[in-house]
Amino acid sequence: MSFTVAIDGPAAAGKGTISKAVAAHFGFAHLDTGLLYRAVGAKVLAGGDPIAVALALDPVDLENDDLRTAAVAQAASEVAVIPQVRAALAAFQRSFAARAGGAVLDGRDIGTVICPDANVKLFVTASPACRAERRYAELKAKGADVTLESVLADVKARDARDSSRAASPLVAADDAVLLDTSDLTIDDAIDQAIAIISAVKG
Ligand code: CDP
Repeated sequence: MSFTVAIDGPAAAGKGTISKAVAAHFGFAHLDTGLLYRAVGAKVLAGGDPIAVALALDPVDLENDDLRTAAVAQAASEVAVIPQVRAALAAFQRSFAARAGGAVLDGRDIGTVICPDANVKLFVTASPACRAERRYAELKAKGADVTLESVLADVKARDARDSSRAASPLVAADDAVLLDTSDLTIDDAIDQAIAIISAVKG
């Protein structure tokens, strides 16, 4: 039987960490849909055509270690405004969501466009300052040469582009449960997400 958990929200709100922990807790498969857009963005930075790259994307492309850089994040949000790119990536996401045994998908439009019938929808947010600090610490730990100011500017630019685009903008689904992680430890955020899902799943 399938059981789909849709987790959406802006950059660095904690979706990835929460999604991984929730998937491990319930024994569900997890798809970080941002990686699909990052993989397309990385290939476009290398000279590819966004739509052609999206149509030819292979799951092994998601294993590229360089997908977490700030430059690839910006390229991802630029290709993500193109409706044909989004359409090319939709079928893979929907079939992943329908797999037997349960699935967690995290992204921007999972509860609104990809899986409008998801069993549980969470919208994870945090203030831009909190999100920038978390992403800064993450990038620094990987040895990236970034400043807090540049990370905050990147996060805000991506928020603006993701929220204002015509195709599948970043917006909470009407039936999503809001989880603001600004003042929560990551363990508390995970516990809250598990409690929300358990209330539905039983
Ligand atoms: O990890 P972070 O939240 O920084 O970003 P991500 O989830 O890896 O997504 C990178 C970019 O891909 C976002 O800024 C969006 O523009 C785009 N994206 C999207 O449009 N739809 C999704 N379902 C997932 C990501």
